Amino acid sequence: MNSGMRKGLTSYGDAAFSLFLRRAFIKAMGFSDDALARPIIGIADTASDFNPCHGNVPALIAAAKRGVMLAGGLPMAFPTISIHESFAHPTSMFLRNLMAMDTEEMIRAQPMDAVILIGGCDKTIPAQLMAAASVDLPAIVLPVGPMLVGHHKGEVLGACTDCRRLWARHRAGEIDEAEIDAISGRLAPTHGTCMVMGTASTIACMTEAMGMALPGTASIPATHADRIRAAEATGTAAVRLAASGLTPSRIITDASLRNALIVLQAIGGSTNALIHFTAIAGRLGLKIDLETFDRLGREVPVLLDLKPTGAHYMEDFHWAGGVPRLLRELADLLDTSCPSVSGATLAESIAEAEEVPGQRVIHSRAAPIHVGGGLAVLRGNLAPGGALLKVSAASAALLRHEGRALVFDGIEDMARRIDDEALDVGADDVLVLRHAGPKGAPGMPEAGYIPIPRKLARQGVKDMVRLSDARMSGTAFGTIVLHITPESAVGGPLALVRSGDRIRLDAAARRLDLLVEPAELAARQARLDPPERPALRGYAWLFHNHVLQADEGCDFDFCREAL
Ligand code: FES
Repeated sequence: MNSGMRKGLTSYGDAAFSLFLRRAFIKAMGFSDDALARPIIGIADTASDFNPCHGNVPALIAAAKRGVMLAGGLPMAFPTISIHESFAHPTSMFLRNLMAMDTEEMIRAQPMDAVILIGGCDKTIPAQLMAAASVDLPAIVLPVGPMLVGHHKGEVLGACTDCRRLWARHRAGEIDEAEIDAISGRLAPTHGTCMVMGTASTIACMTEAMGMALPGTASIPATHADRIRAAEATGTAAVRLAASGLTPSRIITDASLRNALIVLQAIGGSTNALIHFTAIAGRLGLKIDLETFDRLGREVPVLLDLKPTGAHYMEDFHWAGGVPRLLRELADLLDTSCPSVSGATLAESIAEAEEVPGQRVIHSRAAPIHVGGGLAVLRGNLAPGGALLKVSAASAALLRHEGRALVFDGIEDMARRIDDEALDVGADDVLVLRHAGPKGAPGMPEAGYIPIPRKLARQGVKDMVRLSDARMSGTAFGTIVLHITPESAVGGPLALVRSGDRIRLDAAARRLDLLVEPAELAARQARLDPPERPALRGYAWLFHNHVLQADEGCDFDFCREAL
């Protein structure tokens, strides 16, 4: 089998000439024949001036290259798209599949025997894992690591749980302009990903648990020397991985996905992770069954005391033992025979876990943070394809609730009316946002965290039942039902709701229902306008016409398997 420089030759109709030309050009970089004869380890470089979360990537690449060379390989870094949450219009989710396609094709196009995927900011590692699963070349993820915490007036701050909490206080008039400006300089004090259990931390922990990153690498702070050493170790491991031929399809299996989902529940992780791991699984012809996931949610307690569900931050988790120590608590629920890119099984990683006396971040199974996991799958006449509720971040008093619907027809409508002093809204109402799904927005924005109307916020209302076909940042909290499927833009039942209708949420029964007679719903359905066909071009056209719904991971239909 071809390897190294001989892989994937450019097509000139003469393979020997293609190799001759390739070697001639690469020698312009000063490589020796000895270097060019080594196994090639590609390193996906996702640094960008627009991506502060990935600010340490140059240092990580340098260390990973050192690790590759120490193990006898030739490291070759190459750029791919970089996506930062706050610098992606309309949403980072809109671009995730583009990043997956870019990463997949650049791994295919360039000669490499294994690839190191350096990612972290929310959508990046999912996109990279989708790509790696499709190419099925030995691959190892190196997360950039979480930021350190910020401080303000003696209070510890975490991006972005405290971004939202403090912005809500600013909206309510409790924090003035000068102070909110000062806070904006303190919420994200270092490179690295958000240091609460948001999407980036969730994905990093699940990736490690699934065996696609070295043990312990999910939680090492982005700025620590250990993170650099982890990059070096990842480089060395990548050379071993190239020789072993252990490809993603042998690591990402039904069993390892289930392990990752158990961890998702136990960490009270981000709702976004379910969409991303469904997409990753779909690349290998595997399916995450929502009912099975919900059952895990009833069986697996939340053990991690981290914001937004708990009180601590990723650096605290790291010093408490990180993912290996958490896995030890969950060992009897996991398939510990699953292999990992480290070459060890999960059982062997768990055996190496550090015991930290007196740590209070990782709870024991006997004393969980929350009995029953973090996420629940809801069904009902409003969500025939499913919806998700982060129970661990919801208000207990609202988990069984019936109220009057107040409907917003899209994000602009919500932004225009939510703070209107004349808005007819009460604390018991159910806020409904539609046209915010994969096609409707487009890109399924993290708009599910519908703000509490200002006039209610001023009265001290902190939470209300909120529903949408949107997503929500993993750093947010509240009684918020998300990913309602099918979305309203394709004619899902959310499109039928009218302000004034009654809606019932029953989290224990896993139900979400619109309390309107079936005959009336059928009449509304018959009068519904057909789904819009907007005039689009380029990537927006591709996205609109090929993105799947949340229950299929919002991947492109043509990327899942050969047509
Ligand atoms: Fe990059 Fe939160 S903004 S991880």
